[in-house]
Amino acid sequence: MSLLKFDYSSLTPGKKLAVKYFIVAIILFGAQLLFGLIAGAQYLVPGLFYNKLDFNVVRMVHINAMVIWMLYGFIGSVYWLIEDEAQTELVGYKLGNLAFWIFTLAVAVVVVVYLFIQIGPGNQTSLWLINEGREYIEAPRWADIGIVVCVLIFFYNVAATFMKGRWTGIAGVLVLDLVALAGLYLAGMFYTPNISVDQYWWWWVIHLWVEATWEVLVGCIMAWSLMQVLGTPRKIVQTWLYIEVALMFGSGILGLGHHYFWIGTPEYWLTIGGFFSALEPVPLVAMVVHAVYDAGKHDFKNRNHPAMAWLIAHAFGNFFGAGVWGFMHTLPQINLYTHGTQWSASHGHLAFFGAYASINIAMWYIAVQKLRGDVPFDSRLPHAWRWKSALALLNIGVLGMTMALLISGYEQSFIERAIEGSTWAGYFKAQTAKWFMQGMWWRQVFGYATALGYVLLVWDLMTIGKDVPQSVIEADRKERLHGQKTRG
Ligand code: HEM
Ligand code: HEM
Ligand SMILES: [Fe+2]
Repeated sequence: MSLLKFDYSSLTPGKKLAVKYFIVAIILFGAQLLFGLIAGAQYLVPGLFYNKLDFNVVRMVHINAMVIWMLYGFIGSVYWLIEDEAQTELVGYKLGNLAFWIFTLAVAVVVVVYLFIQIGPGNQTSLWLINEGREYIEAPRWADIGIVVCVLIFFYNVAATFMKGRWTGIAGVLVLDLVALAGLYLAGMFYTPNISVDQYWWWWVIHLWVEATWEVLVGCIMAWSLMQVLGTPRKIVQTWLYIEVALMFGSGILGLGHHYFWIGTPEYWLTIGGFFSALEPVPLVAMVVHAVYDAGKHDFKNRNHPAMAWLIAHAFGNFFGAGVWGFMHTLPQINLYTHGTQWSASHGHLAFFGAYASINIAMWYIAVQKLRGDVPFDSRLPHAWRWKSALALLNIGVLGMTMALLISGYEQSFIERAIEGSTWAGYFKAQTAKWFMQGMWWRQVFGYATALGYVLLVWDLMTIGKDVPQSVIEADRKERLHGQKTRG
């Protein structure tokens, strides 16, 4: 930290922990992109790393790294905001710190096993020591248990801190949400040899995490960030938060049914899943309205332009990636053709990036501003082209990948499902179709743009605000004093 001239030692305990979580998140984000690029390249050069690092393993590392870095980012974000929100110091810092190291060590061991042992026979030993074979949460059982312990410690830190300090609306929603988030993880640890039953429970983690508990969590982070970055009054953000949460749980819980169309569950799920998941975009619209409404208020001062830009990117990314791209294939009549094609990958990329990568990045900018001694990150910021180019490259890169995958998915649904009637031969016909392959090439090109955006982002986070002139710092201080006087 001293190398980067960051003001780390003056941070409160919660914020110190947060910075640690953010650093691991940023590193794993890089690993995710690296493995994404390898997986993408394997579509174009199928023999690449054959029998050394096969596609299934590369893909697993790509998406597991994503889930884990986002969890790190969320945990870090909560540690970052909790002391301000509770107006007291974090309770149980030492325990929290211990959990951080256990968690990080476990992740490191799991990655090494993924890369060097990769897979094992279908028995209990593989399940406990190598991987569980459940997409997105493949971590072996021993690591699962470790994760649960660390999450429980995190929960203790959060609940105990709010209990000691101040309870707010955001605090209440956050604590209840963390109970659900931790509890649902247990559904993914349950073992049964019946694949339909297995998938039934596995979706409780995957869908209910990303479409309910993670959405609520980012709702809390967004509410807090808007107060922080724009000075939006608490009354406004909390009212919105309650509305969003009610709508999110109202549609998201039974919306789960859109994953029960074709896995051997009863037919009534077609109706339930189709109907409720079609309502899922409604809270996402509310979130866009909320953010845009606040950003448009002229008397709110914005001292952190990059964070605000990423918060806006989050509101729109969430709406388009989850809401619009999700809605496109959520009715069973359409999903019959698109299920499990590149169409799903198109939605998956835009949704995870738009909804969750973006808000994490916003939090990193909020944190880094503090680490720079709270200098203004506004139009007077030197080298602003860096954060702007990182923002542009990352968003254009992911949007480009999304469109390329959508074209491939369209071609795939058309040839494999509509024309060939879902046969094995039809699958291969689609995989080698001209437009499908063109989409795969374009995905790779935009993948490189995304990766370049990431490199710029990391460089910017390490250097932003380092050389803000003293005159600007002085002027900013005066403005804030003056602002407080007129408001008070
Ligand atoms: C931020 C929220 C969301 C994220 C991160 C997300 C992400 C994903 C991902 C990664 C998949 C692929 C899962 C797999 O590997 O099989 C998926 C599937 C799906 N998502 Fe979402 N999603 C979100 C919200 C939504 C919403 C709001 C809708 C509906 C309006 C939706 C509709 C669907 C459907 C129908 C599928 C199944 C695709 C198939 O049959 O292959 N998603 N989602
Ligand atoms: C460097 C850029 C990236 C490349 C080249 C890339 C490539 C890939 C590839 C090849 C797959 C496997 C798809 C398949 O099974 O056919 C994949 C899956 C996935 N990637 Fe990426 N990716 C990149 C960045 C990202 C980012 C930034 C995110 C989100 C933040 C993301 C989220 C996902 C998800 C959720 C899946 C699973 C999708 C599904 O199951 O349908 N990727 N990616
Ligand atoms: Fe879902």
